[in-house]
Amino acid sequence: YQDIAADLESVLITEDEIHAKIAELARRIETDYAGEKLLLVGVLKGAVMVMADLARELHLPIEMDWMAVSSYGSGTQSSGVVRILKDLDSDLHGRKVLIVEDIIDSGLTLSWLRGNLESRGAESVEICALLRKPDAAKVIVDVKYEGFQIPNAFVVGYGLDYAEKYRNFRDIGVLAPHVYA
Ligand code: PRP
Ligand code: MN
Ligand code: MG
Repeated sequence: YQDIAADLESVLITEDEIHAKIAELARRIETDYAGEKLLLVGVLKGAVMVMADLARELHLPIEMDWMAVSSYGSGTQSSGVVRILKDLDSDLHGRKVLIVEDIIDSGLTLSWLRGNLESRGAESVEICALLRKPDAAKVIVDVKYEGFQIPNAFVVGYGLDYAEKYRNFRDIGVLAPHVYA
């Protein structure tokens, strides 16, 4: 824990703030999907923490499924061309789907994913994203359940990685420039 903290410039959102926000979002989702059987679709790998906490916070009969996607591009920038690395196990026909994401950066991944899931015959496809960077948006994504809007900085923790590290940091923090310099 100490080692990870040394690589951070600052803590942006604490673990407690994250959990309070997830509880808030869960109450809204419970109201909106009362009496329904919801399918949560987590986007690997970043969404694992949000998915685990949101799913346990929901007092609803849910199912969980997972997708892994990769966007081709110039390394750090996502291009909007998305390839499915692991597809869903579920048939989406007639299902109410809620995509669960850690962060919307350019918006390219989610805008492609929503279209893809809609084309499989889902009754509805909505999005829950813990974080959104409005200043990084290349495409506008309609997010029904949004946690926090954050500045266009490199953030890690709570599922978010830099080169696969820091996903297990409990808070969300801004990575110190010396780490990637
Ligand atoms: C990150 C993040 C989102 C996506 C957002 O995933 O978890 O899924 O990028 O970027 P966008 O809005 O610009 O498309 P990443 O591709 O790093 O994979 P990971 O979840 O396995 O870390
Ligand atoms: Mn991701
Ligand atoms: Mg990543």
